[in-house]
Amino acid sequence: PHRRPMVSKQRFAADLSRCLYDFVVQLLPTPEELAIKEDVRKLLERLIRTIEPESRLLSFGSTANGFSLRNSDMDLCCLIDSEDRLSATALVNMLGDLFARETKFHIKPLPHARIPIVKLSLDPKPGLPFGIACDIGFENRLALENTRLLMCYAMIDPARVRTMVLFLKVWCKRRKINSPYKGTLSSYGYVLLVIYFLVHVKNPPVLPNLQQMPPLRPISPEETNLNGHNVWFFDDINLLRERWQSSNIESVAELLMDFFRFYAREFLYNVSVVSIRAGLLTKESKGWDNDPDRGTARERNRLCIEDPFETDFNVSRCVTRDGLFTIRGEFMRASKILSTRPERAIVALAQLCE
Ligand code: GTP
Ligand code: MG
Repeated sequence: PHRRPMVSKQRFAADLSRCLYDFVVQLLPTPEELAIKEDVRKLLERLIRTIEPESRLLSFGSTANGFSLRNSDMDLCCLIDSEDRLSATALVNMLGDLFARETKFHIKPLPHARIPIVKLSLDPKPGLPFGIACDIGFENRLALENTRLLMCYAMIDPARVRTMVLFLKVWCKRRKINSPYKGTLSSYGYVLLVIYFLVHVKNPPVLPNLQQMPPLRPISPEETNLNGHNVWFFDDINLLRERWQSSNIESVAELLMDFFRFYAREFLYNVSVVSIRAGLLTKESKGWDNDPDRGTARERNRLCIEDPFETDFNVSRCVTRDGLFTIRGEFMRASKILSTRPERAIVALAQLCE
């Protein structure tokens, strides 16, 4: 049998980059979807203010950080700027009743969850073919800050960063490795893996480390302290765009191939911690390697991704041994598919997301 001559690496990367952009663009939310979601946010905010007049309802997660796909859920956070506010549990119960009375959403209050939330959903209908799913939490200011951090990273190099992240989000959903409840990784975790790769693995880096850049003026620790965590990062995007020019000129396809190769073969899962704040850390240095109560700590820390602000928090604590095995298997599969360089890049893309 004849061996098919391989397409040159450059030509394949150029083709694949174009396919990736085209693929991702058609998955972006439509302006109508964004408008409907903003209307929903305003409606809910208006209702909440009938109970807590000093409250604001803010978007976080993908709807606010530039990494949203069509039909992403809405993550909303209620902030109340008054001293004598109700407890989250009381609010969840009251808002559950209020929303059930005043809106057409299906309502599920979870007042006793570790983080009390109200879940709302709307069934699909013409003009809203996938319905709406929305969670409202309370006072989750750290999530607002990490959303802003990811948004800044997205804005520094939107063409490459956003394309890579959005593609990976689709890929991990299609490959069914995106469910913390089933032992795999959250979208947030995958985004941190990409940022870490672009800041700390690529040389020259594609992105600067926003948490380690010198501030424009002296900053006191009190200013940047949120619940005991330092949430400072360089967030002057206009200035960054002027000053930061990456000397890395790899295409999005080359970066993606290298991303899969790195997490398939190079990253040392047994000993290492992914930290976008500090670069490569060891589990040992964070005390995430020991198993004081018969393996539970180690079980929780199979995969270690340090939260950018809550540094004692492992974002991938839900990933189980089997989950990690599956995720690594998927990184290897993806890496292999791309290394065969099929004649048409679109074929590789389809195969990746099968
Ligand atoms: P999709 O919903 O899949 O579009 O992705 P997403 O970007 O909204 O991510 P996800 O729903 O996983 O998380 C939403 C937001 O919740 C993130 O942007 C974070 O702000 C926050 N979040 C999620 N998981 C964690 C976590 O483990 N720790 C912390 N501190 N925040 C988290
Ligand atoms: Mg979300």
